[in-house]
Amino acid sequence: MKVILFGATGMVGQGVLRECLLNSDVAGVLAVGRGSTGQSHTKLREIVRADLFDLSVIAADLQGYDACFFCLGVSSAGP
Ligand SMILES: NC(=O)c1ccc[n+]([C@@H]2O[C@H](COP(=O)([O-])OP(=O)(O)OC[C@H]3O[C@@H](n4cnc5c(N)ncnc54)[C@H](OP(=O)(O)O)[C@@H]3O)[C@@H](O)[C@H]2O)c1
Repeated sequence: MKVILFGATGMVGQGVLRECLLNSDVAGVLAVGRGSTGQSHTKLREIVRADLFDLSVIAADLQGYDACFFCLGVSSAGP
């Protein structure tokens, strides 16, 4: 399967990214965020956009995926 991951730079998202890249059932990961993960992997593709409140510009890039992990937000671990 192919998955989209929002928030791959965060604590939760980093864990999700790691597991997806390790899992043989996951053929590809599209990480969407306002910054790069800094990682390089054959299964990983990234879209970096300063403003994630308007995804219409990248709507076509979000087609054809099987699942989405939405890990954006404010950490419950505190600032
Ligand atoms: N940590 C926990 O134990 C825990 C438990 C249950 C649920 N959650 C939930 O999981 C979510 C993520 O938590 P976390 O601990 O991983 O937080 P985190 O480490 O602070 O990561 C937050 C992620 O959201 C992104 N983000 C935040 N504000 C953004 C904005 N305005 N526009 C674009 N991207 C934004 C950050 O991107 P940048 O790197 O660009 O800042 C980062 O990727 C939250 O909703 C939290 O409530 C967390």
